[in-house]
Amino acid sequence: MLHAEDMALPELAAEYGTPVYVYSRRTLTDSWRQFARVFEGTAHQVCYAVKANGRLALLQELAKFGAGFDIVSGGELARVLRAGGDPKRVVFSGVGKREDEMQHALDAGIGCFNVESEAELRRLDELALARKLRAPVALRVNPDVEANTHPHIATGHGSAKFGIELAQAETVALKAALLRGVQLQGLACHIGSQITKIEPFRQTARRLADLADRLRARGLVLKHLDFGGGYPVRYRNEVLPDLQALLGELRTLAEARGLALRIEPGRAVMAPAGLLLTRVEYVKASAHGRFLIVDTGMTELIRPALYDAWHDIREVAPQPGAVTGPCDVVGPVCESADILGRERQLAAGPGDLLAVMDTGAYGASMASNYNARPRAAEVLVDGAHAAVIRRRETLDDLMAPEDLL
Ligand code: LLP
Repeated sequence: MLHAEDMALPELAAEYGTPVYVYSRRTLTDSWRQFARVFEGTAHQVCYAVKANGRLALLQELAKFGAGFDIVSGGELARVLRAGGDPKRVVFSGVGKREDEMQHALDAGIGCFNVESEAELRRLDELALARKLRAPVALRVNPDVEANTHPHIATGHGSAKFGIELAQAETVALKAALLRGVQLQGLACHIGSQITKIEPFRQTARRLADLADRLRARGLVLKHLDFGGGYPVRYRNEVLPDLQALLGELRTLAEARGLALRIEPGRAVMAPAGLLLTRVEYVKASAHGRFLIVDTGMTELIRPALYDAWHDIREVAPQPGAVTGPCDVVGPVCESADILGRERQLAAGPGDLLAVMDTGAYGASMASNYNARPRAAEVLVDGAHAAVIRRRETLDDLMAPEDLL
């Protein structure tokens, strides 16, 4: 029988219904600590990437650990503030920051704007000057490194829209140093997500450190290097790099230059802390195979449809001796891509519960209401206690912003 900490999953399904996202506080704490621990004793900020999962209660837990936050919108900033996050530990990434979002962030006194273009730098300079402020800034550089991950989640190759081209970065930095509304404090990068090889991280870090050296040789004063996120998790059988060793290398690079260190992990903090609990509605067999039709789908977890991502799917109460067979686990959504897992070996029939694993990151945060499906409930388990951190949406919630003519 599968459990979340000390709670049996069928109990949670009975109490809260399905589909439901179930998070474990203990796993979240453990995965957070693996980052925080390596950097003890050196000036650092671990800024959790809110996009991975921005639920208030989860941000609140991280804020209690002293986390920083990486945001990409005014909406994410509002979430961090409401959850009690410290604005001084917020970094604002993203290629398309709007004026109102920048103003909101300036007013909140965030720690750093990770600026992605010269045009953005100038806009921020003007806005800050108008407020008689000086905005703390890092330049996000595109290091032109292949991340060897799914093309949809690679961001650091030359043709990506993200960051300032390495060849231009020095010039932009020198210009930034002359602006009175911004204060250049650091360099940042982020080359993609779920990067399973150490080399792209290393190459990127070296390029960033080299650039920092060149800028300092030209008289610029920097305070920090932000190495971004992208740290992988084991969804299936990926061989992962030694995370502690990698983080140690980043630490050394920054320390050797007397610079503080920042990273922006999202997935590695949150993915293992969540699962998606679902119930089988029907089994359908045809000449082509067997389908387990479940009550969740791409509306709650779009990763398989979008990136061909693998998530382990397990029987919650496996029956000893039950006959397993290959089946496709599919959702109710009217899209052919609504497949959670292909050719899985599962013994499950109507009414049985399945757990879709490692869905804490980029699950609920990418959920939609497509097909007028209310969003699933979300529950945080702490030992033998469970609390609803987002109630299941109702049909009234869905239609509330709409008017009839
Ligand atoms: N920092 C920046 C500037 C980012 O753009 C991202 C993610 C992160 C940090 C966090 O990366 P992580 O540590 O989570 O890999 N929806 C996709 C992932 C998109 C990631 C976008 N940027 C997925 O489900 O795989």
